Order: sequence, then structure tokens, then C-alpha cells
Amino acid sequence: MAAPMVNGHAFGSRVFERPVFAEPDRVALRPRDVRYDWASLPMHWVPDDPFTTHVLNVLHLLLPEGERWFVRVFSEALPLIRDERLAEDVRGFIGQEAMHAEVHQGVLEHLRAHGLDPEPFVAQVRWLFRQALGSRELPTERLRQEWLIERVAGVAAIEHFTAVLGDMILNSPGFDAADVDPVMLDMLRWHGAEEVEHRAVAFDLYQHLDGGYLRRVRQMLVVAPAMAALWVQGTRFLMAADPTGKRRPKLRDLGRPYRRYGLAHPFTLLTSFVPYLRPGYHPSQHGSTAQAVAYLAGSPSARAADERVGR
Ligand SMILES: [Fe+2]
Ligand SMILES: [Fe+2]
Repeated sequence: MAAPMVNGHAFGSRVFERPVFAEPDRVALRPRDVRYDWASLPMHWVPDDPFTTHVLNVLHLLLPEGERWFVRVFSEALPLIRDERLAEDVRGFIGQEAMHAEVHQGVLEHLRAHGLDPEPFVAQVRWLFRQALGSRELPTERLRQEWLIERVAGVAAIEHFTAVLGDMILNSPGFDAADVDPVMLDMLRWHGAEEVEHRAVAFDLYQHLDGGYLRRVRQMLVVAPAMAALWVQGTRFLMAADPTGKRRPKLRDLGRPYRRYGLAHPFTLLTSFVPYLRPGYHPSQHGSTAQAVAYLAGSPSARAADERVGR
């Protein structure tokens, strides 16, 4: 792999250097058996910043159930794939998402053990992914397949955002400077890197099974506002359930992750779905596989996982 070059990347009043890598043609996707010890994780793992901590903690509320749903939907779709390369990618995707779900579940259990009970919110997320979006008893094979493709289009839309967030967390040097808990930061970046690594799989699967432009757009127009609403509700829930004191997020808090750490501006996140609406869009146009692979090669948790299997 070529040595990274660097270009200046303006972010508000600061300039962060964003590395530019030579992109590989293809990466074999595989799960990494990572382990994290949360024993010394402080409740506010972004120091002195409950708001930013809980905005990111929403990931732990949504992902265990959400990613298990991805795994069920993609396992259902596997027998329909007529392209061995894509089937291989889908199997790698399933392995990675299953691991992500379990790791975020571990954080939820840590929060519960330390006085923040996530269950009232997680129960709603569970209902959404298991009941509302689960498999349905439908009378014909054609209807069953339609429902499956609809859900694959939904996963592809969600995966657009996980790739955007993954790219953001890989390019967040402000977090290192802020002394964010290093285990949590490595976990988020490991997950973010795998999201960037497999960012095209759900989209390619949808293109392979159906590829209809209107369905793709329709799903995004449902998913984008739903995710924004879940994030707002999840943040409010966590702030109110915080065992160190009940808080209410304020409108002015919204810009803090951007101002203080250079994370994506809320407006950038809210409008990040727009490129997805272009007919010629492909996930490979955003984010860097090489950067993701480079992070995974140096990540303490990913390296330890590789050593465990003798890689
Ligand atoms: Fe994931
Ligand atoms: Fe993903």
C-alpha cells in the first residue's frame, strides 16, 4: 500500500489533515473476533461532556437489534444471489455485522450494570426490528420476495449512514486531543472502519436483486427522517436516564461535537442522504477503503483479534 499523502481539510475554524490513500481494488471482508474490557469506562467517556457521550451512546441503543436484523435479512437473501463474488461479500458482511451487534450489546450491559437502564428504549427498537420489519407470513412467493427486497433497500439506505458515520469517526483527530476513553474510541473506529470497508455490499445486493431507482429513493426518504427521529429520542432518553443526574439536551448543545472535536456538523449529517438520491450514486464514491484497512491494521483490538487466530 502506498504511503499516505496528506491534504488540508477545512473544518469550521480549524484545518484537519485528512490522509489520502491509494485505493485497493477489492478487500476480502471478514469478521474480527474483537474483545473490549469496559471495566474502567467512565459514564461520560467523552470527558466532561454528557451530551456528546450520549449522542454517540445512541449507537449502543440502536445497533444490537438493528444489526441482528441486517443479519436476518441478508441470510434470507443469500440463496437468491447468482454471483459468487457478491455472495462472498454478503457472507463477510453478515459475519462483521453479527460481531458489531454483540460488541454494542456488551456496552449496553455495562451501562445497565452502572445504573443506566436502557431497556425502555431498547424495547421499542426491538419491536421495530423484530415485529414491524421482521419476516411476514405472506400468501405468495412473489410477495415474500418483494418484502425481502424492500428490506434490503432499507438496509442499503441505513448503510449509507453507517458509512458516513464510520468515515467521520476515522477522521476525528479532535477526539484524540480531547482524551476520549481510548477503549471506546478504538471500538468506534474498529466498527467505523468495517462499515467503510463493507459500505457497498448492501447497495450492490439491492442492485443485484432489484435495482429499482424509485424503491431506493423511497426507502431513503423513509430511513433518513426515521434515523434522525430515533437519534433525537435516544439522546433525550439517555440524558434523562443518566445516573449522574437527569439532564435535558438544549438546542445549542447540537453544535458542540462539531465545535469542540471537529465531528461532522449536524447540517452535514442531516443532508448527507442527498448524494444517495443521484441515479449514478455508488457508495464507493465516498470514504476510503484503504484508510479503513490501514486503521484496522493498527487498531489494538483488531490486531489482538488477528493474533488470536494466528494472522
Ligand atoms: Fe455494523
Ligand atoms: Fe454495516
